Amino acid sequence: MKPHLPLAPVRCALITDSHLGPSRDSELHGHRPYDRLRQALRTIAELPTAVDLVLHCGDLSQDRSPESYALAHELVRELLRDTGVPVYFLMGNHDSVELLHREFAVPVRTYPDKAMSADFSFTVGHQRFVVLDSWHANTHDPLGFVTASQLVWLEETLGESTAAGEKAVVCVHHAPIPTGSPWLDANMIITNGEDLHRLLARYSPAVGIVVHGHLHRAMTVVRDGVVYAGAPSVVWQYLWEPWRTEPEQDPLTPPMYTLLECFPDRIQLAAYPI
Ligand SMILES: [Fe+2]
Repeated sequence: MKPHLPLAPVRCALITDSHLGPSRDSELHGHRPYDRLRQALRTIAELPTAVDLVLHCGDLSQDRSPESYALAHELVRELLRDTGVPVYFLMGNHDSVELLHREFAVPVRTYPDKAMSADFSFTVGHQRFVVLDSWHANTHDPLGFVTASQLVWLEETLGESTAAGEKAVVCVHHAPIPTGSPWLDANMIITNGEDLHRLLARYSPAVGIVVHGHLHRAMTVVRDGVVYAGAPSVVWQYLWEPWRTEPEQDPLTPPMYTLLECFPDRIQLAAYPI
C-alpha cells in the first residue's frame, strides 16, 4: 500500500501597491518605486522554494500612464521569465483597467452597473482564487465600492466553490470593512463593505481568507468567521494606530512581500522584507 502523502501547499507571493511612475527614476514620497518592484520580483524569483504564482493586489501604477505598465511588464519578463511563475493583477484605485487588460490580459467583465470590471477566478493546484475589482468611477477616491452585479457574480462564484468543497482565497484591493483607524475607515475602505461582508460571512466555509492591499500595512481583522488580511506595500508602509488622525509614513518597517501558503487544511501567511 502506498503511503498517504500530504498535498503540497500552493504557495503565492502577494505583492502590492508598487505605484510605478512613467520612468525608472520616477520618485514618490521619497522612494523610487521601480527599484522597489524590481527588488521584490528579484527576491521572489530567487526564493529557495519556488512560488506557484505571484498576485499583485493593486496600484501597480501611480499615474495610469502606459509607460508605467510597460515598465512593469519589462520587469516581469526580465525577472520571472526563467521561472515560468504566472503573475495575476488586481485593479487598484491608481490603476487603469484598460491598460491592465491590454498589457497583462487581465480578464474583465461588463455589467449593467459597471463597464470593464476586473473580476475573475482561477485555480492553481487545489486552490481557488477569486479576484474582485473594488474600484468604481462614481466613488470618492480612495474609497472603494462593489456593485450589485459584482456581488451577484461573487455569490455565484462562491456557490461553485461551496459545491466543489473548495475554500477560496478572495482577493480585493481596498480593505472591505472598518479596521479601527478613524482616518483609514473614513477614506480607504469599501463604502458598501457591509454588503460584501454579509455575503462573505454567509459563504464563510468556502472563504479561506480575504487578502487585500491599499493600506500599505500588514493588518488583520477577523469578523463572523471571515479573516481579512491586508498585505504591506513593496514600496512604503503607513502607520495606522487607532489614535492617529492622519496618515504618516512608517520610518521603520521596510518594503515587504507576503508569502501566502495554502495547504489543504489551513492557510498561512507571513510578510518578509524584500
Ligand atoms: Fe490603493
